[in-house]
Amino acid sequence: MMLNRNAVTAAFEDYVSGYNAQDPKIKLKIDHTTRVAALCERIAADVTAADVELAWLCGMLHDIGRFEQVRRYGTFVDAVSVDHAALGADLLFKEGLMERFAPDGLPPAELCILETAIRNHSRYRIDAGLGEAEAAYCHILRDADKIDILRVNCDTPLEDIYNVTTEQLRASPVSEAVKDCFRNRTAVLRSLKQHPADYVVAHLCLVFELVYPISREIVREQGYAEKMLAFQSDNADTKAWFSYMRERIWEQ
Ligand SMILES: [Fe+2]
Repeated sequence: MMLNRNAVTAAFEDYVSGYNAQDPKIKLKIDHTTRVAALCERIAADVTAADVELAWLCGMLHDIGRFEQVRRYGTFVDAVSVDHAALGADLLFKEGLMERFAPDGLPPAELCILETAIRNHSRYRIDAGLGEAEAAYCHILRDADKIDILRVNCDTPLEDIYNVTTEQLRASPVSEAVKDCFRNRTAVLRSLKQHPADYVVAHLCLVFELVYPISREIVREQGYAEKMLAFQSDNADTKAWFSYMRERIWEQ
């Protein structure tokens, strides 16, 4: 597709200028957006038949609902506020916000892909029965989003992310049900996480959900998983569990 990236970037900056950039939550989402867009572009370049411009646009718009979410509810927790993916898609495709990003319009097929990718990006699983192209952009966007979640987990002290003390972190056990997810190489349902270290394991399990080989390559190249696997624990069982994960994580 032909896309004027400068115009999209300017429209994005204009849109977010309506929100308080001094709020660290807003700043975090602005940074996340540009990183995810760049990752979408990089992954799409490696996927036959994917259009890098459309993939980049999916990344730029995927979290647009976050800004209204935090303004209205003061939180990013969907469970206690609103499904931010649905909110973003509604704003864009039902309430006319898309016109600000593509004033000349986009072909219906591309609009459909964009909307589907945004609506599906934060779900546990994407909708069944999507067409091949729609599913591909969903996967590209979800891979990019997961890679950036791993980055945030490496760059932010775990104490801040999980609101716990260093002592609590170091003493934390890992739940058996969460260990099973790692053993089965699958994502961890939110309801299974009970202890701070469960969240670390759950984030590591994101690696198993990456669809494209290039996405795994990016994670390995950035060393994100290794950083999380270097988790320091005073709990003997947790310590042993992390060394087990270090040996197994990249097995096919
Ligand atoms: Fe999101």
